[in-house]
Amino acid sequence: MERTVCSRYPSVSVRGIPLQEPVARHFARVEKFQAFKDDLLVATYPKAGTTWTQEVVDLILNEGNEEKCRRAPTYIRMPFLEMTSPDPSVSGMTKLEKMDPPRVIKTHLPIQLVPQSFWEAGCKVIYVARNPKDTVVSYFHFDRMNLTQPEPGPWPEYLEKFMKGQLCWGSWYDHVKGYWREKQNKNILYLFYEDMKENPAREVVRIAEFLGHRLSKSVVGNIVKMTTFAAMQKNPMANYSTLSGIFDRKASEFMRKGEVGDWQNHFSPQENAAFEEHYHKTMAATPIPFRFSL
Ligand code: A3P
Repeated sequence: MERTVCSRYPSVSVRGIPLQEPVARHFARVEKFQAFKDDLLVATYPKAGTTWTQEVVDLILNEGNEEKCRRAPTYIRMPFLEMTSPDPSVSGMTKLEKMDPPRVIKTHLPIQLVPQSFWEAGCKVIYVARNPKDTVVSYFHFDRMNLTQPEPGPWPEYLEKFMKGQLCWGSWYDHVKGYWREKQNKNILYLFYEDMKENPAREVVRIAEFLGHRLSKSVVGNIVKMTTFAAMQKNPMANYSTLSGIFDRKASEFMRKGEVGDWQNHFSPQENAAFEEHYHKTMAATPIPFRFSL
């Protein structure tokens, strides 16, 4: 069980991107991170389905072997690059420096803050994007339970902060657009949470092909079964139940709902109208095919 001492850290800006204070303070170390050619980066804006994608990736790399993928919790198997706390033993960098490449590395950094060595080495990157309405709802509940994140405050103000790019890891709009624009130039597989919900087998095959793995139909089927929301919710190596002291589970659950369209239970009609107007204006120059329901 990983324990950590924590408090609700304020956010501190790193080149215009708000990050948790300890993350910002140790960012110079993250920038110098040495990636190697076969390392794989799983990049997302928070709450886009990172943990789900990581589990799929680990199962693909282990040819669907469930036992192997239960060797340790997600955050040990595939460390979180920029994450740190006052206890350096839990920092992603410390874990990664002790691991041999090829490593699977999680990040929420916007593309311009990803350490240069990933691009110099030509690493593969899997980027997962989720529609912003479900993302902000998921993030709101996450910030209620994650005692290291800034206090979320009431929902209407939280939604405004999301639209202004003031939440940790910055603007969702810039994040999804940044990776989208670079996906042809760099080795980026750009996925959508909604596609994974709609047809998980198709997306498992896409990820496997990107990673250079040919899987039999039955292995694909097993990976889909092992990575349903219900299966991962029960899997202590994938549901963050081994992390102690950070999450207030009375406030919310890490594996909360896992659905497309839950935003409809949170947005008022007025909030939805204002959000839509802002969304279309902000995304006009880079139309990314997001879906808000299935
Ligand atoms: P909700 O809060 O909407 O339920 P991340 O891993 O990037 O932090 O994303 C967490 C979100 O992905 C949460 O969304 C969580 O429930 C959802 N999620 C996790 N595993 C999932 C799965 N196997 N299938 C669908 N959604 C999943």
